[in-house]
Amino acid sequence: MTGFDSSLPIGAAQIDGAGPRPLTTTVTSLDAIPTAAALDPGAEHGYFGELSAVLIPAQALQAKIADLAKAVAADHTFDTPPLLICVLKGAVMFLTDFARALPIPSELEFMAVTSYGSATTSSGVVRILKDLDRDITGRRVVIVEDIIDSGLTLSWLLRNLATRGPAAIDVVALLRKPEAIKVEVDVRYIGFDIPTDFVVGYGLDYSERYRDLPFVGLLGEHMYR
Ligand code: IMP
Ligand code: MG
Repeated sequence: MTGFDSSLPIGAAQIDGAGPRPLTTTVTSLDAIPTAAALDPGAEHGYFGELSAVLIPAQALQAKIADLAKAVAADHTFDTPPLLICVLKGAVMFLTDFARALPIPSELEFMAVTSYGSATTSSGVVRILKDLDRDITGRRVVIVEDIIDSGLTLSWLLRNLATRGPAAIDVVALLRKPEAIKVEVDVRYIGFDIPTDFVVGYGLDYSERYRDLPFVGLLGEHMYR
């Protein structure tokens, strides 16, 4: 008996009164709310007939972000505010909602990277388009990521930031596609495990479009096939 509960999934959050529950929610294709002609989820935002379904509604995203923020805050203290690193542009919606949901102070930094590849897959060859504005030596860094697909971009980023001498690096990712993982990355906090379908919205784009949607949706196949 060590007092350590090994049955708890990694990243399990202790939620007030409700006991432990897993931090990560698994979403399957069956959860997708299909688009009927009368209910086109993109229409309110000017995208007509382009999305086939809503995969994660805005409300579910916000509820999850509150849970993620509580879990991250529980691992940090007020006197060592985490430095949140947002990977532009996909994570920008998540970062702004996450920072506002966080019950402790945080500081924000932005970085932009590009991974060579096609519009829908990444290659793992990463180039920095915009670097951090300051030194992260001795800081507790939390990388705020939109989605982990192959994991190649994140694994490169973790290695790059580790060379700069931070006190700790954690990753909070809103979405992960477990079946697309090519390299294992140590991600402490994950919001949703999703199918391998190409998703858009809430920061995620296809050719720079759809980032402005407040939910995560499935792009109609006719849009990219
Ligand atoms: P990875 O290197 O394959 O893990 O993917 C890194 C980047 O590819 C993410 O940060 C996204 O910008 C983009 N990406 C991966 N999957 C999707 C998707 O389903 N929709 C939109 N962008 C995606
Ligand atoms: Mg992109």
